[in-house]
Amino acid sequence: MLVLGIESSCDETAAAVIDSGKMRSSVIASQIKDHSKYGGVVPEIASRKHIEAINMVIQEALANAQVTLNEIEGIAVTRGPGLIGSLLIGLSTAKALAYALNIPLVGVNHLEGHIAASFLAEKPPTFPFCALVVSGGHTNVYLVKNYHDFILLGQTRDDAAGEAFDKAAKLLNLGYPGGVVIDKLAKLGNPQAVTFPRAMKDSPDFSFSGLKTSLLTMLKKRGRDFEESQLPDVVASYQEAIVDVLVEKTIRAAQNNKIDRIVVCGGVAANGRLRERFAVAADAGKMELFIPPIILCTDNAAMIAAIGEIMLKNGRSDSLDLNAVSRWPLV
Ligand code: KG4
Ligand code: ZN
Repeated sequence: MLVLGIESSCDETAAAVIDSGKMRSSVIASQIKDHSKYGGVVPEIASRKHIEAINMVIQEALANAQVTLNEIEGIAVTRGPGLIGSLLIGLSTAKALAYALNIPLVGVNHLEGHIAASFLAEKPPTFPFCALVVSGGHTNVYLVKNYHDFILLGQTRDDAAGEAFDKAAKLLNLGYPGGVVIDKLAKLGNPQAVTFPRAMKDSPDFSFSGLKTSLLTMLKKRGRDFEESQLPDVVASYQEAIVDVLVEKTIRAAQNNKIDRIVVCGGVAANGRLRERFAVAADAGKMELFIPPIILCTDNAAMIAAIGEIMLKNGRSDSLDLNAVSRWPLV
């Protein structure tokens, strides 16, 4: 089935074409440069930029897939969670296309999309598996029993891991989004140089707000003594504190549930150190590890079309009065 996917939940306008579980094209227009001077996503600007980009992004996705709009058999669009104004641009476009082409429309949960990015692999994971969804807004561990059948095993009680990266980068004046910059800079530093807290060690849940406070306290204490040359050590240690708990708690959740397959997905799954550490931990625990390529970890529409196609094939579709939702937990 030829499915067009549309994603606009945050600061990326994306469209993709999927054909029978295989990605034919994936186009992402990033708004990073429009938001970076504000140190974070400005919702009003995001909505406007989505309007400007969406038609072109869809056209490019169709052209790259070498299909015409009339050949598309279904439309999958992110319905939530996300910025409501941004979501509405993708959703209205999807509805207009579905109506004009007289084809089914399905609204997809963005988190389910992140998990579905792993289905696009040459060798996708089989059920059941444990999934760590780790992004700018979420840090959740699920037991995934089947499509749409999730048990929440752990979640953050405050900041998401991506937020911890972004807030640290802001404190250190490293720019936005923080994850990418810290990932790069940390490669030059010693991850054991500074001791940062690992919160809630014995709980299945996460907490990252104390980590950010501890960085702030350290910066205040060091004050003028803080030298540029120390920066790589500081960010490497900070990153290690995040990576440690993500790896440890996900592996533990899988072991406690006798699961030996792990999916790591969402924007933070693009992190080099996290990918490295998960590979080592999965190997040691004799677990199968599935992490999508970096381009499918951060926001994209291929993941939305991937799960959308499965939903449509199972006869699930939505009517044209479907609304966007800013909050939409998977379970
Ligand atoms: O999944 P995503 O693109 O959007 C959301 O659904 O939130 O994730 C964005 C988050 C941001 O917080 C960003 O800093 C983080 O993913 N991120 C990274 C890396 N690339 C993006 N964090 C750590 N290392 C990276 N390489
Ligand atoms: Zn996302």
